[in-house]
Amino acid sequence: MFFILPSGQLTIVVLLLAGLVWTLYKSRRQVGLPPGPPGLPILGNALEFSMPNAYKTFAKWGKQYGPVIAVRAFSQTCIIVHSAPVAMNILTKSSGSTSFRIVRPITELYGLGRFLAHLQPNEEFKQSRQYTKMSLGSAAMTEYEPEHELRALRLVRKLSGNPQNLLSEIGFWVAASFEHIAYGTDEEEEPSGFVEIARRFMPDFILSSDPTVLWAVDVLPFLRHLPSWLPGMSFKRQAEAFAKGPLHDLLNKPFENAVRKMESGKFSPSLISRVSERQPLDTLSDDDLEILKLSAMNLYLGGADSTTSIVSSFFLAMILYPEVQKRGQQEVDAVTHGTRLPTFADRPHLPYIDCIMKELMRWAVPTPFLFPHVQDPACDAFVDGLLIPRGSMLIVNTGGIFEDPDVYTDPTKFWPERFLDKTLLDPFSIAFGFARRQCIGMRFIEKRLWITIATTLATLDVGGPTKPSVREPRAAWEDGPIRLPLPFDAAFKVRNEALLDN
Ligand code: HEM
Repeated sequence: MFFILPSGQLTIVVLLLAGLVWTLYKSRRQVGLPPGPPGLPILGNALEFSMPNAYKTFAKWGKQYGPVIAVRAFSQTCIIVHSAPVAMNILTKSSGSTSFRIVRPITELYGLGRFLAHLQPNEEFKQSRQYTKMSLGSAAMTEYEPEHELRALRLVRKLSGNPQNLLSEIGFWVAASFEHIAYGTDEEEEPSGFVEIARRFMPDFILSSDPTVLWAVDVLPFLRHLPSWLPGMSFKRQAEAFAKGPLHDLLNKPFENAVRKMESGKFSPSLISRVSERQPLDTLSDDDLEILKLSAMNLYLGGADSTTSIVSSFFLAMILYPEVQKRGQQEVDAVTHGTRLPTFADRPHLPYIDCIMKELMRWAVPTPFLFPHVQDPACDAFVDGLLIPRGSMLIVNTGGIFEDPDVYTDPTKFWPERFLDKTLLDPFSIAFGFARRQCIGMRFIEKRLWITIATTLATLDVGGPTKPSVREPRAAWEDGPIRLPLPFDAAFKVRNEALLDN
């Protein structure tokens, strides 16, 4: 995390001082709060939030102070949960009061306040989840199976050609796939410009959504009302340019493209077409049409980087742990006899593939903590007698739990066999959140990941680079709310050419 402050101008300094007094007033420690590390005056623990891999710091605090701790970043109280049962308890049983989100001025300036993950649990939130359910709800899941199988095959075919940049190849494959489920168009078959628009969008989106990056305007919200031409207000100019450029394009262009295709009668089923089957798009209110556009965009925004991350980490794990790869290949071969590709019908007979998938989610979880929740701004809550003050931010430290040696023996080791023990905490049961705010793509990604693992093991040998490389594979990930593995090179050898021609 870092603190983005407009460069020091006099007006701003005066306003900063006013804000400081307000922050001091708000930052008194309340009686009954869970324990936690002492913070500095005014800043609280904001500096520790800014350390690389904040989830590791949170985990250290969890060991020292207990499973529920309270810290403060400026005037914002944060409750950090370092225990799966407590997290489930707070976010499931009390989901009515813990499903709120922080409304950050920076998010609104960037025009991202209506992205599903940022919405308060209001009517728009319900409508948006309703639309996305048409594409990702349990009813649609079986329908997607042939699509998952086809996409997995496309990926291994691509990788068999040993692409130069593995991560960007996977990113392209993921983007094209979400474009398809959201809009029914497919960059891999017909260039639509979607991937390019999405690429321009992502860096600012991640920066403005990262809960561990504190912007000056978040601490001193009145800054947003100052004109953007004032010196030191470059953050506002940057946000406005993003809203008018990449955001506007990502929201509208793929949608318009989808509508054109539907009008031409040549289109694949998508979120847009499913909604239009229920109600013609020209009869939707302007507001509902906007929510539909946002919902389609949510599929890409929510799924793109997390999926790229977990699929890339799978290849990394296969390189670093060849014995796991071998055992996985043996299991798949024993079922398919090398004469066909695995399908979802094989899943009950491939328990080790399930273990690999669970271990992957634990070892390389793309989201080291759940997207922060907020306790209802109108009422306090109590967990085991501990106060969770109204408006406080709730952070579930999934990454910390997954690396906790008290929960998982030898946690840095990629060891799928551990999940043969059914009593062990299943990472899928917490990595995607709970109840009302649970990830909308959870079931989708579980299937996509499973078939991608099984198809890769059936068709390819995954190894490290064949010549010395500056991008040697190692178990290391970027820092951030969605962490990708650091770029690495791989070499792919085809095990069974006939299967790729399928
Ligand atoms: C490995 C893959 C993924 C991981 C680890 C992941 C993880 C998460 C997490 C931790 C949350 C926040 C839950 C909470 O607030 O408590 C979330 C929310 C969300 N995810 Fe995912 N996700 C993944 C894939 C996807 C996919 C494939 C999609 C869409 C197709 C998606 C769309 C979303 C959306 C829209 C939200 C916001 C939900 C809300 O706030 O109501 N995610 N995801």
